[in-house]
Amino acid sequence: MSDYKKIKNKYLDKLNSNLKIEELNNIKTELFGKNGLISNSFKNLGQLKPDERKKHASDLNSIKEELQDKINAKFQQIEAEEINSKLKDEKIDITLPERDISQGKIHPVSQVIDEISSIFSEIGFSVEEGPDVENENYNFTALNTPENHPARDMHDTFYLDNDKKTLLRTHTSPVQVRTMLKGKPPFKIIAPGRTYRSDSDQTHSPMFHQVEGLYIDKDITMGHLKGCLNYFIKSFFEVDKIKMRFRPSHFPFTEPSAEVDIGYEMKDGKIIIGEGDKWLEILGCGMVHPNVLKNVNVNSDKYQGYAFGIGIDRLGMLKYGINDLRAFFETDYRWLNHFGFDPLDVPSNYRGLSR
Ligand code: DAH
Repeated sequence: MSDYKKIKNKYLDKLNSNLKIEELNNIKTELFGKNGLISNSFKNLGQLKPDERKKHASDLNSIKEELQDKINAKFQQIEAEEINSKLKDEKIDITLPERDISQGKIHPVSQVIDEISSIFSEIGFSVEEGPDVENENYNFTALNTPENHPARDMHDTFYLDNDKKTLLRTHTSPVQVRTMLKGKPPFKIIAPGRTYRSDSDQTHSPMFHQVEGLYIDKDITMGHLKGCLNYFIKSFFEVDKIKMRFRPSHFPFTEPSAEVDIGYEMKDGKIIIGEGDKWLEILGCGMVHPNVLKNVNVNSDKYQGYAFGIGIDRLGMLKYGINDLRAFFETDYRWLNHFGFDPLDVPSNYRGLSR
């Protein structure tokens, strides 16, 4: 058998066995690489006599073609096998049941705070915060509520020490004091947050939420207060018209003071805001008392303005038809799933402020 035939038979055997792609590449180099068997055989043709050379060249060419065809076919075969085995392994099993998707919900109180902040931000109020644990001075005295003032009892305060110096804030009004002490007028802020009083029934919870408002400048009047609250209530309840009345009241930190009622009626067991002849109290407000301004070093001959305090939970209950305040804070997951808000399902007046 000629040398060429030996090479051919040996390599055809190899090529017929099971090969990996690297092994096939090696075979290709062994035969056709720079110093490969076939390449060298071609080089050696030159040393032969002319009549032998022709015959050898023709044999060598046919062996070369045969081996090359075989190698190419083998490459295709290996690739096809790889693809098939991938398809087999990576097949999606559509019979598997889908995984549970659990999406969190936004608590109605967070939602309402975002809505309120968003509405007031649009008309130039910035958002301030204060601590839940407050001192007696900022919560009462600086707000013109002297020792023995009945308001201190009315608030059913949770004191944190025997001297009654530290307490859980009973309202968000101390943020007024903190804001004015640390800055210079004008002030135009709201302050949403948690507040605490020892009280619990269907419409009261020991922890609840308020938003404080404060606007102090050179010529702010009760007229501005009315316009601002009217705009806020309409935006919040998403109505064009609202019935609103100011009822004279008393707060130590405002003079004059008022409580604001909005008109409503019941239709098919649902509350309709802004219509009808029933009244619902929703907030307290007034012109900031000159004593309060004095306590925070603001000249009351030059500056004046209004303040208000709104019960957030109450507003949320009215807007979203929730009738027991305590459910807000029971952390019942089923309740939250029902009354909570989808992070992407936002009402039309919500403008994307997030906390
Ligand atoms: N702090 C009052 C309360 O908790 C609410 C309030 C009334 C706040 C009048 C004010 C205000 O700023 O001017 O009942």
